[in-house]
Amino acid sequence: MATTKQLMVPATWGIRSSFHSLIALLVAFLVIASIYVTQNSSGVLVEDKTKSKSSGDLLSRCNLFSGKWVFDNKSYPLYKEKECTFMSDQLACEKFGRKDLNYQNWRWQPHQCDLPRFNATVLLERLRNKRLMFVGDSLNRGQWVSMVCLVDSVIPPGLQSMHQYRNGSLHIFKATEYNATIEFYWSPLLVESNSDDPVYHRVDDRTVRVQGIEKHARHWTDADILVFNTYLWWRRAQMTVLWGSFERPDGIYKRVEMPRVYEMALKTWSDWLEVHVNRTKTQMFFMSMSPTHEKYTTILT
Ligand SMILES: *[C@@H]1O[C@H](CO)[C@@H](O)[C@H](O)[C@H]1NC(C)=O
Ligand SMILES: *[C@@H]1O[C@H](CO)[C@@H](O)[C@H](O)[C@H]1NC(C)=O
Ligand SMILES: *[C@@H]1O[C@H](CO)[C@@H](O)[C@H](O)[C@H]1NC(C)=O
Ligand SMILES: *[C@@H]1O[C@H](CO)[C@@H](O)[C@H](O)[C@H]1NC(C)=O
Ligand SMILES: *[C@@H]1O[C@H](CO)[C@@H](O)[C@H](O)[C@H]1NC(C)=O
Repeated sequence: MATTKQLMVPATWGIRSSFHSLIALLVAFLVIASIYVTQNSSGVLVEDKTKSKSSGDLLSRCNLFSGKWVFDNKSYPLYKEKECTFMSDQLACEKFGRKDLNYQNWRWQPHQCDLPRFNATVLLERLRNKRLMFVGDSLNRGQWVSMVCLVDSVIPPGLQSMHQYRNGSLHIFKATEYNATIEFYWSPLLVESNSDDPVYHRVDDRTVRVQGIEKHARHWTDADILVFNTYLWWRRAQMTVLWGSFERPDGIYKRVEMPRVYEMALKTWSDWLEVHVNRTKTQMFFMSMSPTHEKYTTILT
């Protein structure tokens, strides 16, 4: 898949807790930056330090994935948690008492060019008549909420809507005036599993139907931008693999080493993309390894 871009969040930052919102913010910027750059044929949105003339030159020269995080409390944060209508409690660090909010001030700075200051109106214009879709686990749910919060403030209440489908597996935020949607689809292992319920998914014996993806994937067809993530839910030595169906009793179950299961699932996923996604129309992103986000309150006495 030539158009798939790898977004790897450094796994070595070493800080284990309270990373949820930070990651949500940070990776969102890479996605936004990429939407800005790749969908703007004139290239004027990216200020190239080398002042190259043609946009082709500019795009090939500025590697957005090579850069560093810089502390910027002048233009960041780009939205206030309290002011976002759709902020969920799961991500609301400030609401639940977090004092150190500096994590909201980090800005991605590519080495070779400057990114334009984020502008929600410009982003919405880019998303006009388009579907931007996040697929994956709670990390991507954070990405999605963050993206919605980034545009929320410039859309009047009557011109936006939020709906749930498939018992909460699919959330669709719509900016009516732009005919644009920003969606989230819960599927933590991408393929079918017994963790697919968006609320009741904490099962001890994780069972994966490595060859089954259509049930989820049919909701992704025709999205213009697809952002996938899957990693955290695979962190166990072995998993149960199901050949057959969850609904029928004649399935074959087998314990398999995790790396092999992960590989099989990603194969199913990439095969599906290969067949069903039009690469000219759809941009794809995939995030794999990421830091964990757990509560350590019981350990820190
Ligand atoms: C921004 O950060 C600098 C350096 O940490 C600090 O001196 C300054 O007071 C901060 N400004 C705001 C508005 O928080
Ligand atoms: C965002 O972009 C719109 C359209 O180009 C412009 O009118 C507006 O002033 C910009 N907003 C900010 C805060 O720069
Ligand atoms: C609205 O956007 C969808 C894609 O998300 C597109 O299929 C449809 O044609 C658009 N509607 C109009 C009126 O442009
Ligand atoms: C929604 O949940 C109900 C009750 O658990 C179930 O019968 C139904 O099949 C679910 N619908 C979907 C689309 O998953
Ligand atoms: C793929 O998308 C492009 C751009 O939207 C369109 O021109 C082309 O017809 C599409 N190809 C197929 C096979 O649908």
